Amino acid sequence: MKLKRVKPDQAKGKRVLARVDFNVPIKGGRISDDGRIVSHLEMIDALSGAGGRLTLVSHLGRPKGKTPELSLKPVATRLEELIEKPVTFVHDCIGDEVNAAISSLKDGDILLLENVRFYPQEEKNDPQFAKALALPHQMFVMDAFSAAHRAHASTRGVAEYLPSFAGSLMCREVEILSVVRDDPKHPFALILGGAKVSDKIGVIENMLSKVDVLIIGGGMAFTFLAAQGLSIGRSLCEHDKIDFAKEMLKSAKDKGVKLFLPVDVAVANEANESAERRIVPIDQIPEDQMGLDIGPETIKLFCQALTGIKTVLWNGPMGVFELPPFKNGTEAIAKKLSELTAEGALTVVGGGDTAAAIKAAGCERAVSHVSTGGGATLEFMEGKLLPGIEPLLEK
Ligand code: 3PG
Repeated sequence: MKLKRVKPDQAKGKRVLARVDFNVPIKGGRISDDGRIVSHLEMIDALSGAGGRLTLVSHLGRPKGKTPELSLKPVATRLEELIEKPVTFVHDCIGDEVNAAISSLKDGDILLLENVRFYPQEEKNDPQFAKALALPHQMFVMDAFSAAHRAHASTRGVAEYLPSFAGSLMCREVEILSVVRDDPKHPFALILGGAKVSDKIGVIENMLSKVDVLIIGGGMAFTFLAAQGLSIGRSLCEHDKIDFAKEMLKSAKDKGVKLFLPVDVAVANEANESAERRIVPIDQIPEDQMGLDIGPETIKLFCQALTGIKTVLWNGPMGVFELPPFKNGTEAIAKKLSELTAEGALTVVGGGDTAAAIKAAGCERAVSHVSTGGGATLEFMEGKLLPGIEPLLEK
């Protein structure tokens, strides 16, 4: 997949609309993780540095109409600190005030628009709204890989009205994820975790014939364990996905994929920090307890299965890592991936929770790539051509 990558010189003196994903956690006006802002700095620096007149557009959260707590104003302040340059903020996305702000931009200036989802037309990909966003500009740069699975006005619609290019983050994401999906070095391991099997069905279906090793942990493992006839107590289980899990277990066997499930788990009677934690073998989960992390034998088993692996894709934590008693499994996998990276493997981590987990484990810089995408990374791995990427393809 070859993208039309924007060259900074193309932006010189031009009014550039750039779609970024500044969907960061904000509480009481405070940004608790600015990783997504940082991820776009390369594109912003390059285009603004080359004399582009940059209008940045993003969503934040899922507002129903104008919601003051979901204003992007605090992001403008943080962006200013990060790029050490003034960032003008306007409380709208289209209309006279915005057009005036765009007209007064000089070469290298940066403008951030208000949360584009304050307009319901955004998620409907309304053509009139997309046109109003696009028209004050001369070119469009799509850098928001993590929002590229949404066919919205600012991710897809504006590309109908402007010459469209991919930013550097978009290019890096697509390049690395394409290698993992389409041309991985073998042996190749897929590690899946997180709460739900239903989020991962497409990925399992698309990747099962490509992987050598499939490791399943986290809450979703219990549906697979239930499919094997084990009692899982009060652990998470998607009963309507048990048949799918049975088929996948069979299909993995038929394809010669080495599939690993937990052999022991950390259980408690509820998911909280002070809950009494016990390690039990997988066939001895008490009726009134729930599995909240993989156990030490499983950590050994999974780490052994990963030894010598050349490509790894990891999506979904191994347990409730936000609670210290249940973070060991996730932390151990993060450390194992760091070792594999040091040995030359390509290690890619995707999904908001997994990215947070790898950061919490202090291994963020020790893996090859932490994808900014959650849903977008999963849909990319399902083999879909994402609507926000399609207009950026080199024909
Ligand atoms: C994300 O957080 O994965 C992206 O910002 C997309 O957000 P959305 O799921 O609200 O479209």
